[in-house]
Amino acid sequence: MSFSPARRRFLHDSALAAIASPALLRTDPALGAARRAQTRIFFDARRSAGTLERTLFGSFLEHLGRAVYDGIYQPGSPLADAQGFRTDVLAAVRRLGVPLVRYPGGSFVSQYNWEDGIGPPAQRPRTLNLAWNTIETNRFGTDEFLAWCQAAHTAPYLAVNLGTGSILAAAALVEYCNRPVGTHWSDLRRRNGHATPYGVHYWGLGNELFGPWEIGHMDGAAYGRKAADAAQAMRRVDRSIYLIACGSSDPALPDYLQWDREALERCYHEVDAVSLHCYLGDTRAQTGGSTEKYLALNLQLDRQIRDKLAVCEYVRTRLGARKRLALALDEWNVWDYGRTPSNGRGQLAPHLLEQDYTLADALVAGSMLNTLMRHAARIKIGCLAQLVNALAPITTDAHGLFLQSIYYPYRWALEYAGGASVALLIETPSYRVPELPLVPYIDAAATYDATNGRRTLFALNRDLTAARQIEIVWESAAPQRLRAAYVLTGTDLNAANSFAAPRRVHPQKLNEPVSRAGRTWVELPPASYAVIQWD
Ligand code: AHR
Repeated sequence: MSFSPARRRFLHDSALAAIASPALLRTDPALGAARRAQTRIFFDARRSAGTLERTLFGSFLEHLGRAVYDGIYQPGSPLADAQGFRTDVLAAVRRLGVPLVRYPGGSFVSQYNWEDGIGPPAQRPRTLNLAWNTIETNRFGTDEFLAWCQAAHTAPYLAVNLGTGSILAAAALVEYCNRPVGTHWSDLRRRNGHATPYGVHYWGLGNELFGPWEIGHMDGAAYGRKAADAAQAMRRVDRSIYLIACGSSDPALPDYLQWDREALERCYHEVDAVSLHCYLGDTRAQTGGSTEKYLALNLQLDRQIRDKLAVCEYVRTRLGARKRLALALDEWNVWDYGRTPSNGRGQLAPHLLEQDYTLADALVAGSMLNTLMRHAARIKIGCLAQLVNALAPITTDAHGLFLQSIYYPYRWALEYAGGASVALLIETPSYRVPELPLVPYIDAAATYDATNGRRTLFALNRDLTAARQIEIVWESAAPQRLRAAYVLTGTDLNAANSFAAPRRVHPQKLNEPVSRAGRTWVELPPASYAVIQWD
């Protein structure tokens, strides 16, 4: 671990900027003379960093491993309802209040023929999915997914196949889902037993087509042309839809960001948002084995977001467009590639990408949520990738489910974040790790909901050995009452939940914050992620 010799003052707002300055150490009488307030957060509810759309906290279900089959859908199971939906999973998803679910992929979609997944189940083809080398029965398709969304009280976000798929097939899927009656595809939907159109609003134009691993991958210019054509055709079917273009997401690729520029130069006018995917992992490649670095990786995501927005602004200016594109972080999570098999070996619903998430992973997931909230002005869609079994907060077996460690920060965002993101001013000591900017010990995000006066702080303490005091300076009115204060922490950062021990990583009550004269003092345990809400 390499700390900077002199502690530095770290300042960030929504644009996250680090500046060097003397250490900030203070003694506060309210806490006793011996306790140092090492971090100060200036909280001004009037300083908005953007309205927080509920869709910022969506999720993702791909035909991958046991996400769909044995995950949300298991006909014949005593846990399934008449439609074959797992009722325990439905209850968990409803309890979370997941607002949006992206489907059916992911890399799966780049070869998917959606017509295989509709109509009488017995007549649906059994296909080989090349992305994951699995058997796809097509027993679960578009109609089943849209029925599941209704049962789960969530909104669908459908991705179309722009890898091997045609523009006409993309437009036909919009017609199948959204046209009321009187056309080939809408009448087919009705014959399939779904008289009312689904009115799907969110549509993704392909998946990761910048990546050499993706079936049908192409360069940015080719994608931009195809996306523009598909967008025009899809909008002729339904003008009201919201369209999300692919964006490149792997900084290691030689055409990273150039791919986006070339794509957006061709499809900017036709789309509403561009996507970014980000997986952070405690792999040797990403962290060199350093936990201090692992807990700081969300700063890379902050950077990727800023870089992507810079490309969007460049293209906007060059094209003389008024419209600003939103960002859809429509796949994000912690993923340790090495630890999760990804080759299905021609099996039906094999165990793929099933990661046992640790406490450290949960802290990083929390930090990624902080990053999302800090950029709420431009990120309008976020999808935790994924929801069940594959890279997921919920794991099932034949008898039930358990909640992974990453479930908790996600649940807190859904439960406590609301209104607008607050641009915090943070003074905190920092440390150094290779290849990252100066790392603040405390990483925070906050929200303020003007409708009910609730102020919420989400804070990560990256210090692995010491508790850290935070002093919150309420620059607008100080809150009256503490509503909630929870923390995820523990002595074993490798602890993970399982069927045998489902509560090894579980939220605890945080020591009650102390408030006086427009300030509040909070103590965060070492290596912890906390949520605190006041009204
Ligand atoms: O979420 C798992 C996979 O990660 C998705 O299928 C793909 O889009 C990404 O590379």
